[in-house]
Amino acid sequence: MLGPVLLAAARSDRMRRVIAAAPLTRPVVNRFVAGDALRPALSTVRSLADAGLDVTLDHLGEDVTDKATAHATRDAYLRLLESLRDERLGDRAEVSVKLSAFGQALPGGHDIALEGVRQVAELATAIGTTVTLDMEDHTTVDSTLAIVRELRAHHPRTGAVLQSYLFRTEEDARALATAGSRVRLVKGAYKEPASVAHQDKKDVDLAYVRVLRILFAGEGYPMVGSHDPRMIAIAQELAVRGHRAPDSYEFQMLYGIRTAEQRRLAAEGARMRVYVPYGADWYGYFMRRLAERPANLAFFLRSFSPT
Ligand code: FDA
Repeated sequence: MLGPVLLAAARSDRMRRVIAAAPLTRPVVNRFVAGDALRPALSTVRSLADAGLDVTLDHLGEDVTDKATAHATRDAYLRLLESLRDERLGDRAEVSVKLSAFGQALPGGHDIALEGVRQVAELATAIGTTVTLDMEDHTTVDSTLAIVRELRAHHPRTGAVLQSYLFRTEEDARALATAGSRVRLVKGAYKEPASVAHQDKKDVDLAYVRVLRILFAGEGYPMVGSHDPRMIAIAQELAVRGHRAPDSYEFQMLYGIRTAEQRRLAAEGARMRVYVPYGADWYGYFMRRLAERPANLAFFLRSFSPT
């Protein structure tokens, strides 16, 4: 019951102000976000890389409402990629972008976002790394997948994200499971109507397994974005049955969630990539993490009570 309320709050400016001003919010946010600035995020990347983990970095931000902020997002990603190049981390770290932070929702936003992310993809390719386009709410899927297709013409390793809660996803997966295509499969983190998405967790999980089968049977590069032990075990089983080499797919989890499991999978020889968000605009991301798990909310609320 609480999940949908928190997801609605994730888009409320009033709630943003209340939560950001609470003195004890920060320590809880720090569990999921690797700092407000690039420097601490790079230290996190370095220590994850030293532990044998790959990374995808997210400069936090979403739903921008003017062109200047969209350009600032692009510039932040260009600075991030330059730092990865200078620190020689381009072989361990790629970047994840949300197109709403590149202006996708503005009038003419498809082209504005495409132009911004194209520059990011060009620099990523030049330094030997990749870009993955996060997937946001269902109204953005057509535009985001079209931008993935455009970018892939010159940057074939551009990653797409599919959400198993959407009814359309099996069809999208079939179209994307082609040679060289990097596809992250997640369950989906937004509040979606029953007309487009499964509402029951059981149905979302069953759909996740069906899409995993499509991706592992195809010729692309599946990226299993889940903390769910059952989904991980099924992906491992599909990899064995399909005689997939360990470097022909990867697991992905979020920074701060099931950290021991991340290290265990990497130590077993699996490719494990950690999604590392950083930056001052952490509110929407943080609220979605609270919505996913009541225990996170309890932990957060306890931090307000006097001890
Ligand atoms: P599920 O929610 O069933 O959780 C399984 C288990 O994982 C839980 O029992 C718990 O142990 C642990 N767990 C899960 N969430 C937790 C949390 N917040 N805190 C603590 N423990 C938790 N979504 C989207 O819509 N667009 C996107 O682009 C992305 N990108 C993305 C990248 C990566 C690398 C990951 C791992 C996830 C995303 N997501 C996403 C989020 C995704 O859609 C989903 O909301 C979360 O991953 C939670 O789903 P699980 O598959 O982990 O399963």
